[in-house]
Amino acid sequence: MHEDRPTRSTRFSVLLCRDCCCGTETKHPDFDHQRQELELQKAAIEAGGSLHRVKCLDACGQSNVVVLRTPERGRVWLGDLADDASHEALCAYVRAGALGHLPPALEVRRFAPSTASEEVEGRCNLRGIPVRES
Ligand code: FES
Repeated sequence: MHEDRPTRSTRFSVLLCRDCCCGTETKHPDFDHQRQELELQKAAIEAGGSLHRVKCLDACGQSNVVVLRTPERGRVWLGDLADDASHEALCAYVRAGALGHLPPALEVRRFAPSTASEEVEGRCNLRGIPVRES
C-alpha cells in the first residue's frame, strides 16, 4: 500500500538564466531581477525543489529564461519572464510543485529551445552550473 505516498513532486529544479541578457538591467531596466530570483527560490524550496543560476542558455532572444526540470514533464522552457504578472504566475506554479498544465500566463511564454540551447542545458550539472567540455 502506498496511500501515504506524496502526491506532489518532491524533486524538481528550476534553472534561472543569469548572464549577458537574462537578469540584466540593460535589457530589462524596469524589472526587479533580484526579487525574481529570491521569490522564485523561496517558491522552489517550499515545494521541495531547488533553484539554480545558470549561465547563458543560448536563448537570449527569449530573455529572461527559466527551465523547469520536472520529473513528470521533463524540461519546460519559459521565456520573456520580465514582468510582474508572469513572475507571480511562475512563483505560484513552482510553489505548487510545477505539476499539471501550465497556467495561461505561462503557456504563452513556453517555447521550444533550439538544439544548441538544449545542448547547453544538457551540460548543466545537478547544481545547474554549465560544465565546460575539455
Ligand atoms: S543570457 Fe539567458 S539565454 Fe542568454
